[in-house]
Amino acid sequence: MSVITAGHRAVRSLSLLLPLLAIAPLAAAGSDKPATDPMVQAAIEESIKPVGQVNVGSVPAPAPAAETAAVDGESVFKGTCSACHATGAAGAPKVGDKAAWAPRIKQGIDTLLKHATGGYKAMPPRGGNASLSDEAVKAAIKYMVSKSQ
Ligand code: HEC
Repeated sequence: MSVITAGHRAVRSLSLLLPLLAIAPLAAAGSDKPATDPMVQAAIEESIKPVGQVNVGSVPAPAPAAETAAVDGESVFKGTCSACHATGAAGAPKVGDKAAWAPRIKQGIDTLLKHATGGYKAMPPRGGNASLSDEAVKAAIKYMVSKSQ
């Protein structure tokens, strides 16, 4: 029963749609609005509705550009740097320890970045995570510095 109805509906939609496909471009060509006849509009919408619904369901939502472009210093810190800089392990200056950070911050961000990417005494290059970009290391330093001033 439902198969017959659906088949019927498809045939009806198609027979409605075909003449409309021929008319719609002509109507659209005359003005900047698409076909304005409400009945034509409704018939077109009705005919294309199932297709539209399928498309909406299958297209994955793109991630916002801003989120993928910006490096999140806090998550880099939590993922790599916190192992030492949250606990003070290996003599690392702890985040929030203003006295430990003050003389380091004085060196400037460029020196801190150089030490963090290249390694410095017990500080391993990139905190031991070679996959981190300079941008990611810099973002993590900025996060640590912002919490230690
Ligand atoms: C294995 C432990 C360890 C990890 C992981 C680690 N650090 Fe360090 N870090 C240290 C130690 C120890 C020092 C202190 C070195 C010294 O001055 O003797 C240090 C110092 C630093 C300094 C100060 C350098 C200076 O010039 O005074 C920065 C900046 C820094 N780390 C950034 C980072 C960043 C960013 C990460 C994560 C990507 C990270 N560290 C991960 C151990 C670590």
